[in-house]
Amino acid sequence: MHCPRGAAVLLFGCLIVGLATLSPPSCDAVHGIVTSDAGPVAGAIVRWQGATDAAHTDEHGRFKLSRARRQHVITAAKPGFLIAAGSPPRLHLAPVPDDDNDDYAWIDPTPDPGHANNCGNCHTQIHDAWTRSAHAGAAKNPKFLHLFAGTDGHDGSGPPAATWNLQAEHPLGSGVCAACHAPTLTSPELDYDVRQARGVHRHGVHCDYCHKIADAPVDKLGTRFGRDGYRLARPRGGEQLFFGPLDDAVRAGESFAYAPFYKDSRYCASCHEGVIFGVHVYGTYSEWLASPARRDGKHCQDCHMTPTGTMTNIAPGKGGVKRDPRTLASHHFPGAAELLRSCVQVKTAVARTGAGITVTVTTVARNAGHRVPTGFIDRHLVLIVEGRDGDGRVVAASAGPVLPERAGAAWVGKSGWIYGKQHVSAAGRPLPFWLSAAELIDTRLVPERPDQKRFSYPACVQTIRVRMVYRRFWDEVAVRRKWQDNEILVSDESIRAGDDGDEPP
Ligand code: HEC
Ligand code: HEC
Ligand code: HEC
Ligand code: HEC
Ligand code: HEC
Repeated sequence: MHCPRGAAVLLFGCLIVGLATLSPPSCDAVHGIVTSDAGPVAGAIVRWQGATDAAHTDEHGRFKLSRARRQHVITAAKPGFLIAAGSPPRLHLAPVPDDDNDDYAWIDPTPDPGHANNCGNCHTQIHDAWTRSAHAGAAKNPKFLHLFAGTDGHDGSGPPAATWNLQAEHPLGSGVCAACHAPTLTSPELDYDVRQARGVHRHGVHCDYCHKIADAPVDKLGTRFGRDGYRLARPRGGEQLFFGPLDDAVRAGESFAYAPFYKDSRYCASCHEGVIFGVHVYGTYSEWLASPARRDGKHCQDCHMTPTGTMTNIAPGKGGVKRDPRTLASHHFPGAAELLRSCVQVKTAVARTGAGITVTVTTVARNAGHRVPTGFIDRHLVLIVEGRDGDGRVVAASAGPVLPERAGAAWVGKSGWIYGKQHVSAAGRPLPFWLSAAELIDTRLVPERPDQKRFSYPACVQTIRVRMVYRRFWDEVAVRRKWQDNEILVSDESIRAGDDGDEPP
């Protein structure tokens, strides 16, 4: 959408600003006023585009900007209005349109010279980061599709599995997944079968969808989720409009709306909180509400979109300006695989008493903004504690918790503990969230709150091995589906149980 007229206006604006800054007597300051159709606008943010320092308009809409930067335009912004760019003395703010256009054609993120508007053509670094995020795979992620349709093995060519198969076990519920996993998928039959996602919809949680979010209400938290929870503002007539965190974005022929809530956890809530078929499958946002991180003012974006410091321009060579890299978010969205090891800390204390050995394992989740593990309901941590005598033979514990069958064939019966949301049958087998369970046991770690588990061993034990393993899915599901990458080793420590009655240092 290149609009030559818009470009010309912008250029002209630059010239005027340039001239204004050259003309004495106020060559070190620029004065102006910000208005809307209702008159002067107080509290608008005004800056030289790309500069870190900004001015705010007073109650008469007036501003004064020092430090002239002749090469840039001046921008003015306020939530609820489109960003204005141009030349003082007057900058006029137009309201953000409050209608939404159902017929809007979503733009594909993929770089493609044949499609000038594709985001990846200009936002190369952001596109690369997003491609490596779970969001880019939300509609085509094979594990998601395996559980959706019961496909088995690696290539999906085998017969559908009978269990852990949503299509077979709860067919009427299968339309619900698209709301968060493929939010732009349309469906003439209203079945919203994610396997039918083609074109831009196959990109799952993609750029254009996320940046058309005009508001993210949380009054129906958990019950209206994904696309049903957000308010969008899709433009009409081939125009373009993006919402975002910058108050000074400018591109000829296009509108931007400054939306500070893009830095708030509330923005992520609709997709990261969901009670589905009566089960609290996703609870990350409500867990955050109760977290110490929230009390410290930390939002999801602070940990999952932390600036890498390597991006200085969001659209280099395509109209973007230089900005402080510490202000530009990353779209890679690291998950457990990247964050777990710096988060889950396991400490083991071994004490030898007259009767034997007591092992105390203290686990704490640091720097998390929610319970751990969070996210998909099946995620869990398994603690495995093993005692061996001087000859290396395994010696069973005489007291302490023992791992149930759902810990998997390798570890059932061993000393240990499961930290997880456990949606289980009366017999203790894990069930998919779409089947009604006898119990939902929640033993996950509470952020910053240490949890202790104690185990006793006979006196002959010489070494204690303590492992913490994270599993994305229950072992029986991963084994049946032949998923090799289901486990992440968080920690593995072997401790000598000294024979002199002292705890090792
Ligand atoms: C899951 C929703 C989501 C997706 C998908 C997404 N964004 Fe963003 N984007 C955000 C949020 C939230 C912010 C603000 C983050 C912050 O400032 O902490 C943001 C910030 C931005 C910014 C402002 C500069 C910056 O990095 O802070 C640009 C430009 C941008 N996104 C472009 C894109 C493009 C291009 C894509 C696709 C390649 C994309 N976004 C995909 C949610 C999303
Ligand atoms: C439109 C819905 C939607 C929005 C908005 C959204 N997410 Fe997600 N997010 C998802 C889905 C769906 C997945 C799972 C994709 C998959 O693995 O198949 C996901 C996955 C993730 C992951 C997991 C990464 C991993 O490696 O497993 C993180 C972290 C995350 N999102 C953070 C955020 C944050 C932070 C925000 C807000 C800035 C946000 N998301 C906004 C739908 C969304
Ligand atoms: C032809 C190049 C081009 C294409 C294509 C493009 N953008 Fe941009 N975009 C820009 C420029 C230029 C800016 C402003 C840069 C600046 O101010 O430094 C921008 C700014 C943005 C911002 C920041 C808005 C804010 O207020 O935070 C977002 C979000 C954004 N683009 C999203 C997208 C998305 C989503 C797509 C694809 C649907 C897209 N862009 C396609 C060039 C492009
Ligand atoms: C203080 C930092 C911090 C904040 C704030 C935070 N997270 Fe996390 N997040 C983490 C850490 C550390 C992990 C890894 C541990 C885990 O999986 O629970 C994680 C894991 C996740 C995962 C699981 C990814 C996976 O691989 O399964 C999702 C999804 C997620 N966070 C989303 C969010 C959302 C949404 C918010 C805001 C409501 C948020 N986080 C707030 C630090 C944070
Ligand atoms: C409320 C929004 C929402 C809905 C509705 C939803 N999901 Fe998810 N889903 C997510 C988010 C967010 C994640 C990422 C959490 C994480 O990484 O731990 C996710 C992750 C998953 C994963 C893990 C993928 C992986 O590779 O680890 C599976 C499987 C999954 N969802 C299946 C489903 C199915 C099947 C449905 C429909 C019955 C569904 N989801 C409906 C938001 C949703």
